[in-house]
Amino acid sequence: MGKNILVIGSNSSIAKKLIDMELKEGNHIFSISRKGFELENTNFHHQILDVLEENIPEDFLPDSIDGMVYFPGTINLKPFKALKQNVILSDIRINVLGAVNVIQQVLKKLSLGSSVLLFSSVAVRLGMPYHSSVAISKGAVEGLTISLASELAPKVRVNCVAPSLTSTNMASRFIDTEEKLNSMKNRHPLKSIGQPEDLAYLISYLLSDKSKWVTGQVISVDGGLSNLKM
Ligand SMILES: NC(=O)c1ccc[n+]([C@@H]2O[C@H](COP(=O)([O-])OP(=O)(O)OC[C@H]3O[C@@H](n4cnc5c(N)ncnc54)[C@H](OP(=O)(O)O)[C@@H]3O)[C@@H](O)[C@H]2O)c1
Repeated sequence: MGKNILVIGSNSSIAKKLIDMELKEGNHIFSISRKGFELENTNFHHQILDVLEENIPEDFLPDSIDGMVYFPGTINLKPFKALKQNVILSDIRINVLGAVNVIQQVLKKLSLGSSVLLFSSVAVRLGMPYHSSVAISKGAVEGLTISLASELAPKVRVNCVAPSLTSTNMASRFIDTEEKLNSMKNRHPLKSIGQPEDLAYLISYLLSDKSKWVTGQVISVDGGLSNLKM
């Protein structure tokens, strides 16, 4: 039969890897982002939608959803003294309220044993200058993860992944020269930045029944940055 997986923010490079993996597993993808998505596969369905502005059309969704992943987020780095409240509110809106809104819309459709995946950041566990807005919004995502995991257990599992710098469109400005890329690699104990598949493998596992005893977790995928001193 295959699982029905809802992917919000499918134009993320991580989401693209995940979609490829899930379709190969025979699962069905219901994909949403603000732009189109070129993919010919009978198990793939795409809806152009801004989840901050509109609800997901009822007729786009299947009757039952076995997994959902919410990708939209931000990396807004600003010195605290220059940080405007409207920037913080905008980060909270996309990282937290967008996820809350989508989960509330699909709550009734989430099947027994289904899995919800959210995104945090290494910046919640590891203090770094200029990261206060990211840390505020992703900290809230982590809080949402554990409280929702408790409220929805035992029917629905809720987990969160916390990456460090990963090679995606969002991160491109931090790695757009050889010098910046090498400097970013060197900050990580594993001497590399993340690749989309590093996240996609974990998300695929967390969506699958192989992780049926995992819930309420924030899992770091960060080349060792948050936990190791070199
Ligand atoms: N990459 C990193 O280094 C890094 C590090 C730490 C944490 N993270 C977190 O990991 C998650 C994924 O990151 P990423 O780098 O893959 O992000 P990304 O490249 O920005 O991808 C997210 C996708 O979400 C879609 N999207 C954004 N706003 C949307 C909206 N309102 N409605 C519908 N779709 C929307 C965008 O596609 P459209 O333009 O087509 O809508 C975008 O391609 C984020 O939550 C990010 O904060 C990333």
